[in-house]
Amino acid sequence: MLHPQELIDGFGRHIEDMRVSVIDKCNFRCTYCMPAEGLRWLKNDEVLSFDEIERIVRIAVQRGIRQIRLTGGEPTVRAGLPELIERLVHLPGLQAVSLTTNGFLLRRLAKDLADAGLTRINVSLDTLVQQKFEHITRRNHLSEVLAGLEELEKYPTISPIKVNAVAIRGFTDEEVLEFARFARRKPYVVRFIEFMPLDADESWTPEMILTGKELHDMIHAVYPLLPRDAAPASTSRVYQFADGKGEIGFINPVSEPFCSTCNRIRITADGQLRTCLFSRWETDLRGPLRENHSDDEIGALMLRAVQQKEMKHRINDPGFVRANRSMSQIGG
Ligand code: GTP
Ligand code: 5AD
Ligand code: SF4
Repeated sequence: MLHPQELIDGFGRHIEDMRVSVIDKCNFRCTYCMPAEGLRWLKNDEVLSFDEIERIVRIAVQRGIRQIRLTGGEPTVRAGLPELIERLVHLPGLQAVSLTTNGFLLRRLAKDLADAGLTRINVSLDTLVQQKFEHITRRNHLSEVLAGLEELEKYPTISPIKVNAVAIRGFTDEEVLEFARFARRKPYVVRFIEFMPLDADESWTPEMILTGKELHDMIHAVYPLLPRDAAPASTSRVYQFADGKGEIGFINPVSEPFCSTCNRIRITADGQLRTCLFSRWETDLRGPLRENHSDDEIGALMLRAVQQKEMKHRINDPGFVRANRSMSQIGG
């Protein structure tokens, strides 16, 4: 049963999507996210256990959360991930559990993920060219990621399969049409994401953003696109190729912020609730969990945080201050 005090923020936004990072470590070192040497990893006992994650999710679902997305770091690096998924999908009131992954371990894990009840997946893939892949991820694993995607195709209960590419000027431009052909050839919804200042290296500059409009226009000139309807809280604008062959989408958080309909909160691997990707503050849930606070007390902490959720990000404002964590520590 829903708790009478649902998660509604100070601007009337109903919070229905919670992204839970299950681990801070990653097996890639994408330049737009992590430094080459990695970060200071959490100790094992700093990371939430499956019991703790399940409890947080259960309380959140009672307060109106409908969708859970598991993220990292790289979530597939967490031992036993399918078991966690299986536990979550059985929680009454939860509509879907999805996963954001770099795809490296999917060939091995796809079956277990499908069997566990995963129904949605987003695979990050920023280039289809091996050398560029090695440059951006600092790892030589393009073929494994492509094989992982193909493996997913064998499990129709996981649908749609989305491929997310961070678009960076000077890197992505030359491959835009190749990605369009990839989206037309494969049963994947390919989506470009505008580069945001969430890289641990702090090398982001506004000039590096390749906007969704630019990308759309490049593709539309060669392969005409027709807009498709999207849910109000959706991060992406999705188009269908006019000749019916596939879909492509654009996630434009910088040029067309979608904050006014944001329904998301995030839990870090160490149990901190974040109300915005660009938050500069967090609410500790792990401490109260481990001090045996009641479900009602933990739910009340969530609500108090949500009531202070940021109106929007300030990437485009003068004096923008970066978040206090990089994307790999937040989870995307
Ligand atoms: P689905 O609706 O299931 O497709 O999820 P999604 O579209 O939100 O996908 P995903 O979580 O993979 O988000 C894709 C990318 O959009 C992320 O990697 C981020 O780069 C960006 N993004 C997601 N949520 C937010 C958000 O709340 N704010 C901002 N600024 N960017 C976001
Ligand atoms: N800007 C935009 N998207 C990013 N991601 C990671 N770092 C950034 C960034 N700086 C995306 C990746 C992945 C997800 C976890 O977050 O593409 O899909
Ligand atoms: Fe939501 Fe913050 Fe992202 Fe805006 S920047 S959409 S408020 S998480």
